[in-house]
Amino acid sequence: MTLIFKSDSDHWQDWQQSLKDAMPDLDCRNWDDTGDDDAVEYALVWKPPLGELRRRFRNLKVIFSLGAGVDHLLVDPDLPSGVPIVRMVEPELTRGMTEYVVLHVLRYHRLVPALEDQQKHHVWNVLPTPTAPKRRVGIMGLGVIGQDSFRVLSALGFALSGWSRTAKSIPDVTCYHGRDGLSAFLAETEILVCLLPYTAETDNILNRDVFSGLPQGAYLINAGRGGLQDEDDILVALESGQLAGATLDVFREEPLPVEHAFWDHPKVTITPHNAGTAQHWSAAKEVIANIRRIQKGQAPLHIADSAAGY
Ligand code: NAP
Ligand code: GLV
Repeated sequence: MTLIFKSDSDHWQDWQQSLKDAMPDLDCRNWDDTGDDDAVEYALVWKPPLGELRRRFRNLKVIFSLGAGVDHLLVDPDLPSGVPIVRMVEPELTRGMTEYVVLHVLRYHRLVPALEDQQKHHVWNVLPTPTAPKRRVGIMGLGVIGQDSFRVLSALGFALSGWSRTAKSIPDVTCYHGRDGLSAFLAETEILVCLLPYTAETDNILNRDVFSGLPQGAYLINAGRGGLQDEDDILVALESGQLAGATLDVFREEPLPVEHAFWDHPKVTITPHNAGTAQHWSAAKEVIANIRRIQKGQAPLHIADSAAGY
């Protein structure tokens, strides 16, 4: 029983140790290690080379994504057929994302960019600062991460609304869904947080139409995927003042090209796709718990819906 691991950004030795701690008899191999590929039943991967899972591993039972998003796998037209893809759902990845959302919502809510600018110019000027119940925060994507972010934003007292594909009911959150619900959701959102997956339906969804549906001077925080955003439309909306600021963790091209206009834009905050990352010491336990389910003949938890794309 072998698990194959592939990631260019996660540390293999740490993952190997944590997987072994959770299941000592599991044989764990890194992608380029030599060994019997036919013994590989589980793949734990981030952006594997296209076509390779199918070509190399004929006895795969499950593909575990190292990330919550599975777009990096579904982009492969040659995936092994009939092998379920399991999303990474683990408490520390979720916690990291919630930390990111709360940090940047509070930063805009408390006008930190304007205060930093005042300090740079030695200006002492008291800016009117409402408290959280008078600040309307809207989240696109009410899944594992969106709902955990609401938990903390709600405790802080923000006025909350959310938008998803199917109808939801979440305490203290005004919920909208579907294309029909989008304009009402946007109209009441001063800080827009995007936590959507990247799918055929969500491609380029953060565009001029969405920005013009927000109140003038709204803020955008995108920690979903770069493919969700029209980057030219963001620049235009910032220029016109329709958007007062944008915090972006994800980009159409990553790493963000050095010449991209976002880098030096005074209203853009860039983070290098590090809003939330699976932590090996926590995530390995979730992966192994799912392997134990499979061994007992149960379906693994958090199987992605390949047709829906997330
Ligand atoms: P999830 O639990 O699968 O939730 C996805 C949410 O998006 C659901 O509420 C879903 O609606 C909604 N959605 C999907 N398609 C939609 C559409 N066409 N219109 C409206 N809503 C739609 O996913 P998650 O675990 O919260 O993760 C969300 C995403 O965050 C990931 O896919 C990934 O792209 C991103 N992410 C980024 C980082 C980072 O470091 N930047 C880290 C982790 C995750 P329903 O509830 O109706 O199904
Ligand atoms: C990271 O981007 C993830 O999908 O977990």
